[in-house]
Amino acid sequence: MGYNLLKGKKGIIFGALDERSIAWKVAEKVVEEGAEIVLTNAPVALRMGGIKELGDRLNAEIIPADVTVMEDLENLISTAKQKFGGIDFILHSVGMSPNVRKGRSYTDLNYDFFHKTVDISAMSLHRVLQTCYKQDALNDWASVVALTYIAAQRTYTGYGDMAEAKAMLESIARSFGHHYGMKKKVRVNTVSQSPTVTTAGSGVAGFDDFINNADKLSPLGNATAEECAEYCVTLFSDLTRKVTMQNLFHDGGYSSMGAAD
Ligand SMILES: NC(=O)c1ccc[n+]([C@@H]2O[C@H](COP(=O)([O-])OP(=O)(O)OC[C@H]3O[C@@H](n4cnc5c(N)ncnc54)[C@H](O)[C@@H]3O)[C@@H](O)[C@H]2O)c1
Repeated sequence: MGYNLLKGKKGIIFGALDERSIAWKVAEKVVEEGAEIVLTNAPVALRMGGIKELGDRLNAEIIPADVTVMEDLENLISTAKQKFGGIDFILHSVGMSPNVRKGRSYTDLNYDFFHKTVDISAMSLHRVLQTCYKQDALNDWASVVALTYIAAQRTYTGYGDMAEAKAMLESIARSFGHHYGMKKKVRVNTVSQSPTVTTAGSGVAGFDDFINNADKLSPLGNATAEECAEYCVTLFSDLTRKVTMQNLFHDGGYSSMGAAD
């Protein structure tokens, strides 16, 4: 049952690949809450995933965009702006490390891959925000959320160079949050989500161990993708208008724990 928290709002959802994707759940939840959306993903992901079914079901146009290609993003943002008049919220749910994918250890990184990791997983948030800024595409009090992981603050050995990408992502949210806040009262936050079984999540070495450990240590247990979607709804809604430039842990209490007996 929805609460109509996003009635009349228009948004762009990056990163729905399949029904396990966090972005998939967010897309379903924001529409249930009354929003209209555009879905986007890399052209190659659109060919693989079941996103067309999602688009049909949610009555959402799908616009391909590789987040490392400026022209793709310019086209995406201008098309969404034209369609909606202005954009009220954006979910950035994009991450990929060729080093992690190819099993390169942290002490044997390929630097071309490292560039790619940072470009796709972090710099892309800047590209999206800068494109919106230049096209004046976001409405006053719009809300931008990017998904991140606690490996930005602490060491998780299997997370590889994604840790650096997430640290940069969180920093971009703070820095752009200032500029866009001054210009249009736009808020920019990152949500640091519990480990979640998805295509990106399962690619991390030792994932099963740390998902179980996190679940045991968190007093409320790990947060699911559906719960993450619900939290994102609140951040896109008008009920959180003064929350900006924050890294918000959505992890059942895990990030505040030391040890438990
Ligand atoms: N799964 C977890 O345990 C977990 C925990 C915390 C944060 N996150 C973050 O949540 C976000 C979503 O990941 P997920 O777990 O839902 O996995 P996912 O694999 O379903 O989503 C990742 C998405 O990134 C997209 N992507 C990759 N390269 C792209 C490119 N060049 N251009 C456009 N899109 C591209 C993929 O197509 C995919 O849709 C990521 O930022 C991830 O780091 C995941």
